[in-house]
Amino acid sequence: MLDKAGKQAGTLAKANEALGYMPGFGNDFETESLPGALPQGQNSPQKCAYGLYAEQLSGSPFTAPRGTNERSWLYRIRPSVRHTGRFNKIDYPHWKTAPHVAEHSLALGQLRWNPLPEPTEKLNFLQGIRTMTTAGDAPTHSGMAAHAYAFNADMVDDYFFNADGELLIVPEMGAIQVFTELGKMDVEPSEICIVPRGTMFKVTRLGDEKVWRGYVCENYGAKFTLPDRGPIGANCLANPRDFKTPVAAFEEKETPCRVHVKWCGGFHVTEIGHSPLDVIAWHGNYAPYKYDLKTYSPVGAILFDHPDPSIFTVLTAPSGEEGTANIDFVIFPPRWLVAEHTFRPPWYHRNIMSEFMGLIYGRYDAKEEGFVPGGMSLHNMMLAHGPDASGYDKATNSELKPVKLDHTMAFMFETRFPQQLTRYAAELETLQDNYIDCWTDLKKRFNGTPEGDWS
Ligand SMILES: [Fe+2]
Repeated sequence: MLDKAGKQAGTLAKANEALGYMPGFGNDFETESLPGALPQGQNSPQKCAYGLYAEQLSGSPFTAPRGTNERSWLYRIRPSVRHTGRFNKIDYPHWKTAPHVAEHSLALGQLRWNPLPEPTEKLNFLQGIRTMTTAGDAPTHSGMAAHAYAFNADMVDDYFFNADGELLIVPEMGAIQVFTELGKMDVEPSEICIVPRGTMFKVTRLGDEKVWRGYVCENYGAKFTLPDRGPIGANCLANPRDFKTPVAAFEEKETPCRVHVKWCGGFHVTEIGHSPLDVIAWHGNYAPYKYDLKTYSPVGAILFDHPDPSIFTVLTAPSGEEGTANIDFVIFPPRWLVAEHTFRPPWYHRNIMSEFMGLIYGRYDAKEEGFVPGGMSLHNMMLAHGPDASGYDKATNSELKPVKLDHTMAFMFETRFPQQLTRYAAELETLQDNYIDCWTDLKKRFNGTPEGDWS
């Protein structure tokens, strides 16, 4: 009897250490952290193995078309109704939700910030979120929020789920472990992860940093998916096999814990006597995943000019209107520039879409200075932007030999909706007052002759 109990405890301990991944995008996965925990041939046996409870987590309406129908079956120590009790309201004043039009005195403009200030107190991931912009309308499942985060403490007995949307987490400084109901993901700068709407999780720190920093896109709308490749064909851009979904993992903890919930912009907390991360096995296609941006295979200009930046879309969250994304998650990864007789950086432009950018490492090719890792920029609907004056000079005068843009990773959360600035963002001390001066030195080159004035 003792041997059996000892063996069981050993198996449990081993299962708790599980950290592995299953490749593929949107697959129907199955995984169990204890042998035989996953029912075979049916979803809901009269009695589940190990005394587990069967529970379905739906990510789409039951009747959604097959291509967008998402749900997973979870086999857990307690059903989720035991992971929340009576809720109390709680305030997370820096996490805002659309619709949100903040009162502030900052006028319209192209904006750029240096990284968030370091926390002056202990903050965990949840407490370290700072909303920069919101767009659309969360209760109608459209739009997004762009957040930055800076934290220096683990979520130990605190857990969170967001009913308002899925979270795309982009670490910039410091690796993190995202322990979800469905498994654990270690995510380091250059990797991203997605936590689906409603999925319980906590975030802890990995490695040795002073501060853990990054960005979050909160997607209120339809889930992120891979963009269609059109004439590009079956390969390149983000390839499905490079997406990794975690294997089942759980923690068995019978001590006081708190579950925090975000629901239609409001925050609520409930106290329970155990960990809610108690899923021993699961199967289905509604699951978290991570992706290494370094595995993105860019496609671009090989003779002259360059395509629109949509060519760098990693994930897209469709709206109801074809080709008009609720959000595009776009990156600017290392790549060769080879175009002949071409202005190689991004051109000057005004767009109907609104662009929130961040830099994970290196330097972005349209800006010679001022846009630093951890920094942010916002170019809202129809506001002009493009390379700074020194970037323009360099691009128009350099020899057009093949050049590799290396050691760089910038990204963009681009949405069809205008992005409303939060008061926090408008008053943030790292806002660069002089950002628009980067274009001041763009001279008039027109002098009525075809040659122009390049003096
Ligand atoms: Fe742009």
